Amino acid sequence: MGRELEKRLADLRQRILGCKKCPLCESRTRAVPGEGNPQAEVMFIGQGPGANEDRWGRPFVGRAGDLLNELLRGVGIERSDVRISNVTRCLPPGGRLPFAAEIKTCAPYLLEEIELIGPKVVCLLGNMALHLFVEKSKVIHEVHAKPIPQEKFFLFPMYHPAAALRRPDLLPQVKADFATLKAFLDSKPTLEPQLGQQSLF
Ligand code: URA
Repeated sequence: MGRELEKRLADLRQRILGCKKCPLCESRTRAVPGEGNPQAEVMFIGQGPGANEDRWGRPFVGRAGDLLNELLRGVGIERSDVRISNVTRCLPPGGRLPFAAEIKTCAPYLLEEIELIGPKVVCLLGNMALHLFVEKSKVIHEVHAKPIPQEKFFLFPMYHPAAALRRPDLLPQVKADFATLKAFLDSKPTLEPQLGQQSLF
């Protein structure tokens, strides 16, 4: 990794750790920056920290994280090869969902992280991550495992691992989607210039 990238990621991390842009800074134990390969070809974006992430200050370290690790390993991808991050960085009180205003305040950290990492594929785990990029009428149930080209990367919507923990009948589909992702990565997809596509950056 170049020194400049290292410096900019460290700066982003420090800003997240010390963030006081919304009231969630009062209730969190720790803010949770992204982690993993700074030059990853693939990023996984979750919703936000749960109780374990809040305690350890790391993304996907609870039950959903264990399942994510297992799903990655199942298709021959190491967690250390990818980047793992979230839409929001602080656990809301009582574990409620983040409010729209909190998501809006926090999202620029994620967009900056994506710009710095420069992945080829951004996997959106669940509807909250999906709706940061695509209209709310589209839901994971309909668009999972279907790549969506953007100007600089492909979006790859996927079920959130927590969905498969809540509904074990989803697990075979979730595993199949990880196999589809691996095949997509192995196909070395390239982006055509997107006519009329608005960049988020
Ligand atoms: N852990 C995370 O870091 N993000 C989620 O969305 C769920 C669990």
